[in-house]
Amino acid sequence: MDHFLYKDGALHAEDVPVADIAAEVGTPFYCYSTATLTRHFRLFDEALDGIPHLVCYAMKAASNQAILKTLAQAGAGMDVVSGGEYLRAKAAGVPGNRIVFSGVGKTRDEMRVALEGGIRQFNVESEPEMQALSEVASSFGFEAPITVRVNPDVDAKTHAKIATGKSENKFGIPIARAREVYAEAARLPGLKVIGIDVHIGSQLTELEPFRLAYQKVAELTEVLRADGHEITRLDLGGGLGIPYTRSNEAPPLPVEYGELIKETVGHLDCEIEIEPGRLVAGNAGILVTKVIYVKSGEGRDFLILDGAMNDLIRPAMYEAYHDIIPVTEPRPGVEQAKYDIVGPVCESGDTFAKERLMPPVSEGDLVAFRSAGAYGAVMASEYNTRPLVPEVLVHEHQFAVIRPRPTFDEMINRDTIPEWL
Ligand code: LLP
Repeated sequence: MDHFLYKDGALHAEDVPVADIAAEVGTPFYCYSTATLTRHFRLFDEALDGIPHLVCYAMKAASNQAILKTLAQAGAGMDVVSGGEYLRAKAAGVPGNRIVFSGVGKTRDEMRVALEGGIRQFNVESEPEMQALSEVASSFGFEAPITVRVNPDVDAKTHAKIATGKSENKFGIPIARAREVYAEAARLPGLKVIGIDVHIGSQLTELEPFRLAYQKVAELTEVLRADGHEITRLDLGGGLGIPYTRSNEAPPLPVEYGELIKETVGHLDCEIEIEPGRLVAGNAGILVTKVIYVKSGEGRDFLILDGAMNDLIRPAMYEAYHDIIPVTEPRPGVEQAKYDIVGPVCESGDTFAKERLMPPVSEGDLVAFRSAGAYGAVMASEYNTRPLVPEVLVHEHQFAVIRPRPTFDEMINRDTIPEWL
């Protein structure tokens, strides 16, 4: 459920007409709903009621500080994957002891930044990384709390580019080698083993892969405890999918996911962390764009928008489907038109949808991409020297620009010309 609904014939974000925001901010822009963000966070938080837990929002999904602050105030911790994300979370007011650091290629500099600023735990992904963290932590007099990310060799049954839990993927250490690696971790100075980490992929639409992975983590917990390690925390990753279409796909609900967690690892007396990103932010954001032209082509009409692949890369990159709806509510029973929906960028990949049926729209009309809150703005670029798309946050009847559109001067003046030119 989200808070982007038609009221009085116009699409609203909570209580604000989307067209009012467009009039003030211009298009394209991302628009997020505070109520949807906090609702989705709470669904996870409540799903884990009864067991000690922390929901660490995977901020890679949407990392504007206003979003982070909204979620942190609701009680979220953060999952970060770079020094930049760590500093951004801190800047938004998240304390270090609520930040977990994931990622396959943490540098020594990033480790130091997090150790100095305070960190809940590092999710270590390889032996060389473990060695490096041991060196950095001990040379600066820290003891770094760690989990080791295990790769359970489970098929997440999702798009190949976002599956991470098969043995051929670059993530984690093979679960079969876990005992060796934990023994090494216990020997190294500057490290304190506290738990196990797993994350098998994103946009999972079934619970079964999670079940297989979490059962393996439960078995491993017992084995490692028998080996003498103190396993008190399990980080179970993110990945629960969202419905991108309102009709056919219905991924499991957070409450069902929570039940599964309790069934598989609830008896182990561990603190549980989860790292959802997409389900928190995905349906909490839309991308609003304007129709520049409607162009008649051979056997099809093209809807040429002022939003492009640089603003929302998911369709070009993962063949992702996003619902595209007019901001003015269509008349009931209006006959659908068929469009190829494209942006103005100079490549054929700048196509959002082919032969999409939707209510007819005309030049100057606003259209909204639904489910664009996660992996939307964060993956945007300035390709074609298009300004980085701005972001707006709505709260009931108010809205605020949380990242302004850069001016052309700002963009152009970032380049520096060497003196020999
Ligand atoms: N934890 C780790 C270690 C991750 O790598 C990810 C996502 C998450 C948590 C959050 O997963 P979520 O709950 O959002 O599924 N750009 C792609 C998605 C990449 C996901 C990368 N890792 C897309 O637009 O579909």
